[in-house]
Amino acid sequence: MPRSADGAPARFSTADTHHMRRALALARRALGQTRPNPMVGAVLVRDGEVLGEGWHHKAGQPHAEIEALRDAARKGHTTRGATAYVTLEPCCTHGRTPPCTDALIAAGISRVVVAATDPNPAHAGHGFDILRNAGIQVEAGLLASQATQLNFGFNHWILHRTPSVTLKAAFTLDGKIATRTGESRWITGPAARTRVMQLRAAHDAILVGIQTVLADNPSLTIRQGRRERSPVRVLLDTHARTPLDSRVVSDAFAQQTIVVTGPEVPSDRVAALRERVTVWTAPLAGGRIDLRWLLAELGRFPITSLLVEGGGEVHASFLRDGLAHRTAFFYAPKVFGGADAPRGIAGDGFQSLATAPVLANLRHRRIGPDLLVEADLKFTSGTPTGEPGTPEVRSHPVPATAAADAPTGAAPGANSRAGKRRGPG
Ligand SMILES: NC(=O)c1ccc[n+]([C@@H]2O[C@H](COP(=O)([O-])OP(=O)(O)OC[C@H]3O[C@@H](n4cnc5c(N)ncnc54)[C@H](OP(=O)(O)O)[C@@H]3O)[C@@H](O)[C@H]2O)c1
Repeated sequence: MPRSADGAPARFSTADTHHMRRALALARRALGQTRPNPMVGAVLVRDGEVLGEGWHHKAGQPHAEIEALRDAARKGHTTRGATAYVTLEPCCTHGRTPPCTDALIAAGISRVVVAATDPNPAHAGHGFDILRNAGIQVEAGLLASQATQLNFGFNHWILHRTPSVTLKAAFTLDGKIATRTGESRWITGPAARTRVMQLRAAHDAILVGIQTVLADNPSLTIRQGRRERSPVRVLLDTHARTPLDSRVVSDAFAQQTIVVTGPEVPSDRVAALRERVTVWTAPLAGGRIDLRWLLAELGRFPITSLLVEGGGEVHASFLRDGLAHRTAFFYAPKVFGGADAPRGIAGDGFQSLATAPVLANLRHRRIGPDLLVEADLKFTSGTPTGEPGTPEVRSHPVPATAAADAPTGAAPGANSRAGKRRGPG
């Protein structure tokens, strides 16, 4: 139940809900742009009049509350006595930007309504305490689940320092992801593929296995109308087999690609790849790329959310190691059959019902002729999800990326590492 800062149940009006919805919509404008910071929106209102609006555009730039205060000032409004609707608990520490709590207090805000509490236990609730001690009425929990869902990557990363992992695949109803001859384009219809673009935009990085690159030569970019952009692309390629003319290493976004190889690969192959993309040398686990090590490295990058787009062997590895958190499975009304046709989840499979992962919070909907089933993964035994071991600290060349802000808990050392980054070597 939503609560005021002193623990009493909060009562929100229709107007409160309306303004918080607007703040959430503003936050979403920065989809895919704020890494490793959360998306946050803010609206300032007094006597029913909207005085200012803002959202956090990018790490290192002003937070949503500051944007909204500046917007109000630009429009000639004072903000004394106003209510601030903010989708995430205001920050209370000095990072690359000063604390938003100070700015709200200085602006004379009299009430702060928040959707989600800062998930970082070191900070959660502290912003509320500071505001309340300054005499501001604070109420939290309005549309909290929407705000939490919006920042699923940040919420995980801030606690674990590894990205939140979503497995995405397009299946036939009999669980195949390609025909026995390897055809997989396209299993689902155009509407589902548009949804995939949105999923890509909501994640910091996309990962595939080398067999998918060899079979499909995917571009793994985001196409929206005529615009095309690229999140970071990660390839698992133990033996450095990635063809130099494949799209992910030769297109206009090649600088955004990381090929992850094992330690023993021909040096000329690696040198040729390094002319185009970033190459990371990873330790192996069971003869393949060690995914725990990789997630820890991606977390340091910092990548807060990872969309794993297959194929079946890669999905199986993430599931086997208990490293996936959510699924986005599309089902097309088709049947491919064939014992040898690639399966969406390959590998050895789970040995018993007791160890098989269980999907919770199932959400399903029709998308054109297809069905999208999204869910959260719960592992019934074995490895807890997303808990990395202590990773070996190595220095990697990484693609150029936005410098991390120090929001409500940037990774310790994230900024210092950023300073050490080298370009593709
Ligand atoms: N319908 C869909 O949504 C969809 C999506 C993607 C792919 N596909 C289809 O899936 C097929 C390819 O899937 P696939 O299962 O054969 O291969 P895959 O999952 O794309 O790639 C597996 C390969 O990745 C490498 N790898 C490195 N580290 C790994 C790790 N920790 N875990 C797993 N793999 C690791 C291994 O090769 P090395 O040992 O050589 O490194 C492994 O054989 C293609 O037919 C493609 O068209 C369909």
